[in-house]
Amino acid sequence: MRAAPARSGLAANEMIERYRAVRSASEALAAPLSAEDCQAQSMPDVSPTKWHLAHMSWFFETFLLQPALPGYVPFDAAFAILFNSYYVGVGERHPRAERGLLTRPSLDRVRAYRRHIDAAMLRLMHEVLEERWTALVELGCQHEQQHQELILMDIQHVLSCNPLQPAYRAETPRRGTAASLWRSIPGGLYEIGASDGGFAFDNESPRHRLWLEPFEIADRLVTAGDYRRFIEDGGYRRPELWLADGWNIVEAEGWRAPLYWEQASGQWTRFSLAGRRAIDPAEPVLHVSHYEADAYARWAEHRLPTEAEWEVAACRSDLRELYDEAWQWTASPYVAYPGFAPASGAVGEYNGKFMINQMVLRGGSLATPGGHARATYRNFFPPAARWAFSGIRLARDKRARAESA
Ligand SMILES: [Fe+2]
Repeated sequence: MRAAPARSGLAANEMIERYRAVRSASEALAAPLSAEDCQAQSMPDVSPTKWHLAHMSWFFETFLLQPALPGYVPFDAAFAILFNSYYVGVGERHPRAERGLLTRPSLDRVRAYRRHIDAAMLRLMHEVLEERWTALVELGCQHEQQHQELILMDIQHVLSCNPLQPAYRAETPRRGTAASLWRSIPGGLYEIGASDGGFAFDNESPRHRLWLEPFEIADRLVTAGDYRRFIEDGGYRRPELWLADGWNIVEAEGWRAPLYWEQASGQWTRFSLAGRRAIDPAEPVLHVSHYEADAYARWAEHRLPTEAEWEVAACRSDLRELYDEAWQWTASPYVAYPGFAPASGAVGEYNGKFMINQMVLRGGSLATPGGHARATYRNFFPPAARWAFSGIRLARDKRARAESA
């Protein structure tokens, strides 16, 4: 992340309110879950809820309380290793795939850890108001919000593995739907990336210019009904629609539909946070990999937008379903912007070192905390990942269409 320029005049009580709201949102997400739910790890990519709850606190302890709060005493020295995710510069780490084996500390003790961190953070926010630390308080809050979405992604996967198919929460009613329209964006010189102002992660900077050819972009996301037609047209049996790496996985893993979809007696259902239920043809398709999004786009005779096209369109056109349904795969590999510089120190490991073998997703999802997403935000996952709330927005070349018309 970019060390967010401290908002000048940010009052301690404003920062404290922000911190409290974010921390209590994490507690609320875990509230419907039992201690057993919070313990399970259903695959290496999934972390137990208990681990998330502890790790979010570890982040504040490691990057703020230890360096900034005089006389701070860690809650438990062993947590430094157990709840370090990937910060090599900080020291040893418990293996990611074995987080579910951490039956100790208990969930109660992790909750006590959170209270310890909260008390110390309140002291820090009252007593230490140097600009470099207030920027890290905001980073810690943004980090916690990212893990809030991970808690939902991960618990959905955990619950999906249970034959009882339990629901995490009740169904949220859906709005009505309308057909997708194409929005036209003229070619030209544009700027993308975070400008100085509000918070942004380091990977969104620096803001820079680039050239775009004219294009069109769909104002809505591909629906489950659209995607079902791709399946029914043999989408998963036609190698010509797929990138070679994607086709290898289709064959190796036996993919026949998005993650969580099942077909019985001709009816498609999907597992969701509300349990297993019938596919709603009008809802955006979720839990597709980049490979599936790309194959669908090829089948539809369109393509995925680049991340620059997505950002320009999001800023200047009337697109819907940008931030509240599904993250949208782009055609762009996750690489550094020209002039990118990660933050100094171990916290600089936050984003930069992952800029290989991943694709960018833009927007936000039904699981993204309100106010967390923005037009310049760059999410990223390996192209085969499907457990995120990921979907598809289509684009097409305007020039090619005009010439072929
Ligand atoms: Fe983290």
